[in-house]
Amino acid sequence: MDATAIVLAAGEGTRMKSKHAKLSHAILGKPMINWVVDAAIEAACERIVVVVGCHADEVRALLADAYADSPIPVETVEQAEQLGTGHAVRIALEATGINKGPVVVLNGDLPLIQPETIRRFASSIAEGDVAGSVLTMTPPDPFGYGRIQLDAEGSIVRIIEQKDCTPEQAECLLECNAGCYAFDGALLAGHIGQIRSENAQSEYYLPDMVEILKAAGERVGIYHCDDYRDGLGVNTRAQLAELTAIARDRVNARLMAEGVTFIDPAQAWISPDAQIGRDTVVWPQTHLIGRAQVGEDCQLGPNARLTNVRAGNGCVIDETVAIDVALEDDVTCGPRAYLRPGTHMLTGSKAGTHVEIKKSTIGEGSKVPHLSYIGDTTMGAGVNVGAGSITCNYDGARKHATVIGDGAFIGSDTMMVAPVRIGAGALVGASSCITKDVPDGALALERSEQRIIEGYADAKRAKE
Ligand code: UD1
Ligand code: CA
Repeated sequence: MDATAIVLAAGEGTRMKSKHAKLSHAILGKPMINWVVDAAIEAACERIVVVVGCHADEVRALLADAYADSPIPVETVEQAEQLGTGHAVRIALEATGINKGPVVVLNGDLPLIQPETIRRFASSIAEGDVAGSVLTMTPPDPFGYGRIQLDAEGSIVRIIEQKDCTPEQAECLLECNAGCYAFDGALLAGHIGQIRSENAQSEYYLPDMVEILKAAGERVGIYHCDDYRDGLGVNTRAQLAELTAIARDRVNARLMAEGVTFIDPAQAWISPDAQIGRDTVVWPQTHLIGRAQVGEDCQLGPNARLTNVRAGNGCVIDETVAIDVALEDDVTCGPRAYLRPGTHMLTGSKAGTHVEIKKSTIGEGSKVPHLSYIGDTTMGAGVNVGAGSITCNYDGARKHATVIGDGAFIGSDTMMVAPVRIGAGALVGASSCITKDVPDGALALERSEQRIIEGYADAKRAKE
């Protein structure tokens, strides 16, 4: 679609009372700015320009992180002084030279906007029906939004900001500006210079384009959201929480429609970008953050925080924290496992209770069931690691690797001081401190011999 999206992300977000950019605050683990840019990408906009200003570096970094490989380039333009939404759009047009085609303007704090709405907006301009269009909604609480004033025929006359409303207008005009607009690029560029700042906030208001285009004899339309929630903005922390709950319910409803069971959908926070297969059960207090991909017939949670996790079919992930981890089919984790970046668990393997694994491959069917730390390790298939065993991978300066061959049996409370290699089929006696390589099929034992002093305990007790 030959449309440009301009996303406004330069404002200070004062009402959030935050040290960070307002649009860096996340909904379901995804920064608000990414929700809006993703919607523009999904709507097939050809060019995306984000206006940055306050906390510009923070916003730029979020964009660079998310869209480095995006097929549609996401550009930024700097608005050094935040003189209002109209000013922000003027800066974007001047910096990019955009002066034709449909231009969709999106407030950056409009995370629940639907791609379909953006697409419909852009095509209404492309088809020449109107010179401009405004997305409107009628929320239960209109406070803070610009209000739509209509004429007797129901056409939009202008938008009056809350702070510029008379008490009567604030009470009676209940239809609100959602902060999503479409314009004919040539008319927008031709008239944007006419916006003035004589208003309650001494700002250049983009909504004033409605009156300006109408005065120039152009047609401006409104499009009312059937679902007002699509048009809600985030100015405060309370609104951030409110929109998080809405987003959560929407994501979970979609997944349930696709065949996922939720024990309590109000208690699961699933990224909008997550994929979950059929017949997987999501237990309460499950958080799926980032690029999550979970197969069929899995059990997630209760109490799981999984960031950028890929899991195959039939996995059981009980009370687990996992970050940047890949699990093949039928893997069992937890309760209380901590899987750190670079962990790859092959089919049928297990990370049990109070087990931490970092940057390691756990081979097919291998088990680390209790109280262990495995780091920088390549473990073969069918290995059993006894309770309380640890790879000592760090010498205070550098990390070293441990290799454990297929079918090895590591007795409980073994220290494997890396770099070290334990051969295939080897046995390591419980409580050994292994500092030298163990050949295939060998027994390694490192512990002092046990002494028995007959009757000692009884004699001591008798003396006391
Ligand atoms: C704006 C609209 C209001 C609408 C509401 C919808 C104006 C004047 N008012 O009000 O009619 O009902 O959104 O949520 O547009 N921004 C910049 N540069 C600036 C100022 C703002 O990039 O100089 C960005 C902000 O980062 C934000 C967006 O524009 O993402 C909207 O600004 P905000 O101050 O939140 O406007 P509202 O008061 O909510
Ligand atoms: Ca706002």
